[in-house]
Amino acid sequence: MIYPIVVYGHSVLRKVARDIDKNFENLEEFVEDMFETMNDSDGIGLASPQVGKDIRLFVVDASPLEEDEPELKDFRKVFINPQIVERTGEKSNFNEGCLSIPNIREEVIREPEIRIQYYDKNFEFHDEVYKGVASRIIQHEYDHLDGILFTDKVSPIKKRLMRGKLQAISRGKFEVSYKTRLPNNKILFPQK
Ligand code: CO
Repeated sequence: MIYPIVVYGHSVLRKVARDIDKNFENLEEFVEDMFETMNDSDGIGLASPQVGKDIRLFVVDASPLEEDEPELKDFRKVFINPQIVERTGEKSNFNEGCLSIPNIREEVIREPEIRIQYYDKNFEFHDEVYKGVASRIIQHEYDHLDGILFTDKVSPIKKRLMRGKLQAISRGKFEVSYKTRLPNNKILFPQK
């Protein structure tokens, strides 16, 4: 099932999401739906709050970036109850966008390397280190679980310049190729 993607201004994007356990109802199906929804919108990452669920789970599929970053070829994973336990290296800028904030991209400053502990869909524990683009994608999705959006992390000047565009998004004034859910829960279908 393809979920509509919740856009900027919806309260679920500002919640701190909660951990789940292995008895979470229909977990396997939900993970499948997350991948399906992400692929349908050509995303490389998607966090549960973006489909209206305040649980600590996100998916990534960086394989579309394979041409420029060959090591991302098989980077397709679900992260459940993740904890970033270390962020290291000199912070640098990287251009980010978000399915919940259509047609806005900005430079965001983050550490290059992270160590993350998480569970996979079989509730096997993992403890891994990521750098480069993979680390950026994970940090972006991880922020969603704490109610943080990349637009929170830009300079005050850029924030001011962006305000009008963000308000327009929350009123449904944008064009994308996927289904979206506005802050008032109205569903918008893409114009095809
Ligand atoms: Co995002």
